[in-house]
Amino acid sequence: MERTEVLVSAEEMERQRVFAEQVHVLPHRPKSYHVVTYGCQMNAHDSEKIAGMLEAMGMVSAPRREDADFVIFNTCCVRENAERRALGNVTWLKEVRKEKPEMLIGVCGCMIQEPGMAEKILKQYKFIDLAFGTANLHKLPEMMYDLLNGGERIVQVEDKDVISEGLPIRRLRHDAAYVTIMYGCDNFCSYCIVPYVRGRERSRDPEQILREAEGLLESGVKEIMLLGQNVNSYGKGLPGDITFAKLLKRLDDSGIPRIRFMTSHPKDLSDELIDVMAGGKHILPQFHLPVQSGNDEILRKMNRHYTREQYLDRVRRLREAIPGIGLSTDIIVGFPGETEEQFADTMSLIDEVQYDSAFTFIYSPRTGTKAAGMPGMIPDEEATNRIKRLIDLQEGLQQETMKRFIGMEEEILVEGLSRRSKLAVSGKGKHGISITVSGNAEDIGTILRCRVNGLKNNTLIGERET
Ligand code: SAH
Ligand code: SF4
Ligand code: F3S
Repeated sequence: MERTEVLVSAEEMERQRVFAEQVHVLPHRPKSYHVVTYGCQMNAHDSEKIAGMLEAMGMVSAPRREDADFVIFNTCCVRENAERRALGNVTWLKEVRKEKPEMLIGVCGCMIQEPGMAEKILKQYKFIDLAFGTANLHKLPEMMYDLLNGGERIVQVEDKDVISEGLPIRRLRHDAAYVTIMYGCDNFCSYCIVPYVRGRERSRDPEQILREAEGLLESGVKEIMLLGQNVNSYGKGLPGDITFAKLLKRLDDSGIPRIRFMTSHPKDLSDELIDVMAGGKHILPQFHLPVQSGNDEILRKMNRHYTREQYLDRVRRLREAIPGIGLSTDIIVGFPGETEEQFADTMSLIDEVQYDSAFTFIYSPRTGTKAAGMPGMIPDEEATNRIKRLIDLQEGLQQETMKRFIGMEEEILVEGLSRRSKLAVSGKGKHGISITVSGNAEDIGTILRCRVNGLKNNTLIGERET
């Protein structure tokens, strides 16, 4: 894919900026907005861009959706329940609007990008005023301008792979920030809809990423989270020999106190990356490495391109190079045809790896994906039984893995007041685990050194050293 094809031109970005200014002076524009976000960090970050654009149009954030003049749902469709929840909530708002007829309702994000969804919205969801896909995000000012002037509802979905630089961003946190390094996915895991709704893999220019990171550092940000569906294949299609490891090294040298990233595909986890992490000053010792299944046949049917042994080898290398590294994973149970023995392989892998945390999901068929056509759908009851056993096992193991932090020096970036005590604050340590220490609201957004000295109700307790 040619880079010029994917990058939205500076002229187009300027056009959109001018549209935003024009909306700003419209007397009948919505005065407040509320963004409802579903799905992954990518979507959370897109919502920050949506909020940024709406504020450039002169709107202010309303804490409750029912009070806002414009409510926009940024949807996810990775599993059926995500989709059902979004549609349920959009429909609920239709009722609320009966009391507030001037309210505008928008829907965007991955779900809109599903085949047939635009038609469905046009025919079945007539109360939605504005709907657009992931490729049209940067055109929100123009769409809003047309909506407010034409009075007709707008549904815009395109099948294009774009990168838009320079959008205004209204960040939710001041101390930690998302930085997208690549968009889309080329892996086509057989169960997954993401490549269909987010398009082909495309990487941002490294200089743009570095500039953004430096700007964030200057504004006081302590931690950045690099985002991509498969960050390990960053750089594909870019000129030169840039890789994710090289990008990470440059960011590490730029002085940002804490750097994290997600998600990594095990098949692309290079020794180069492990070495950069091991030699880094600011790259946090934590790794999210989705395994999905512990059985080779299921992994093959999932189109994951690694075996259980290859995965375990990557885990060993990570632990050798970065002792004590925090490890987390994603697991799917009840993939079509999964036998009890194959599921037992997932259980034994969990037991063998000893993760610090695991996100577990029941397989959900997605129309258009390869797995949706595979025979051997596991009955709900059986899948639910498997996920329960898996969660039980993981919770038990976690009790043990957390103990290794006791006695350790840690540094936390304080996220907020502890939920259990007014005299305590909590935040994530370098290994990605939450730790609670004594403190107050003034500590929020700062990095505190502590020594972990206990474990209470599944939470690590630390003693402050700063
Ligand atoms: N790109 C990332 C994340 C993708 S979505 C990755 O490759 O890991 C996050 C997780 O949702 C996946 O890791 C997978 O465990 C889960 N998931 C994706 N599609 C699913 C489906 N159809 N049913 C159940 N879980 C699914
Ligand atoms: Fe989906 Fe696989 Fe791509 Fe992750 S790597 S987004 S699971 S297709
Ligand atoms: Fe969902 Fe889209 Fe993320 S489908 S998981 S919001 S990329």
